[in-house]
Amino acid sequence: MAPILSVRDLRKTYDGGFEALKGVTLEIEQGEILALLGPNGAGKTTLISTICGLTVPTSGTVTVGGFDIARDYRKTRSLIGLVPQDIALEPFETVYRTVSFSRGLFGKPRNDAFVGEVLKKLSLWDKKDSQIKELSGGMKRRVLIAKALSHEPRVLFLDEPTAGVDVALRKDMWDVVDGLRADGVTIILTTHYIEEAEAIADRVGVINGGRILLVEDKDALMVQMGKKQLDVILTDPVDALPESLARPGLELSADGTRLVYSYDTKAERTGITRLLQDVAEAGLVLRDVQTRESSLEDIFVGLVEEHSAGEAS
Ligand SMILES: Nc1ncnc2c1ncn2[C@@H]1O[C@H](COP(=O)(O)OP(=O)(O)OP(=O)(O)O)[C@@H](O)[C@H]1O
Ligand SMILES: [Mg+2]
Repeated sequence: MAPILSVRDLRKTYDGGFEALKGVTLEIEQGEILALLGPNGAGKTTLISTICGLTVPTSGTVTVGGFDIARDYRKTRSLIGLVPQDIALEPFETVYRTVSFSRGLFGKPRNDAFVGEVLKKLSLWDKKDSQIKELSGGMKRRVLIAKALSHEPRVLFLDEPTAGVDVALRKDMWDVVDGLRADGVTIILTTHYIEEAEAIADRVGVINGGRILLVEDKDALMVQMGKKQLDVILTDPVDALPESLARPGLELSADGTRLVYSYDTKAERTGITRLLQDVAEAGLVLRDVQTRESSLEDIFVGLVEEHSAGEAS
């Protein structure tokens, strides 16, 4: 099946000369949920607004549902819903009219039942006649999402949809995303909350300095990049690591009470048996042993640091 979204060698140099996208290539299948992770200034919003036709690329191509974003702008725009990072709403307009009007902008016929359903799904129904200016920040974000859903898009971009919202809204959001997934909507979201990517994404992309560093199936990524850490807690602290124990991946904690051993879960030999034997032979007594798995967060931080070091050198 042809991908619903295809980005080829996309570059964007802003007027001042800043190169925000340095050749991004990405394909997304229909119904997929991709989380884009990246530090501030990585190019996430630039990438999304270029795909949505709000920013003109310097070079490269983007197709949505097989249509080119430049040649078939209207067609691609009607397939796309965007929840922008910045809240921009008309303060004196009511919630209902804001959402219903947005649907009309995309040439969809008025459909009160559908708009009502969207508002209910986002717990905005009882606010439907309130003016935007009377809403809290989190409620405004819900309105942005309702707006983006108003014209029944096939591809939904969520640019940090849960920045600055409370736990309840974040969970509601995840439920909404799940519902959309069930309807076959393709979703690309950016987030700084790694647990969000862990919770809802099928694939995870990492972007930094205008380049995609990696796009990978989430579960595979966790396994592939996964490192485990073994903590060997000693009954009596030691001043230094005994020479017989020195090996790659092993460190003594600053207070001398634990040996911290990082190992690759995929390696044929983890070295744990050997380590524990050597510990016993060195005359150290174990009080406890614990293991800890690296999270997506560790993986992400490691990747970005590696990339930044590479760029600097
Ligand atoms: N209109 C613009 N003119 C010039 N430079 C811009 C413009 N918009 C963004 N940039 C620069 O492009 C880079 C990427 O910005 P972008 O907003 O895409 O990052 P981001 O990944 O969305 O970051 P954040 O996590 O902070 O939202 C930044 O260095 C930013 O300063
Ligand atoms: Mg951004």
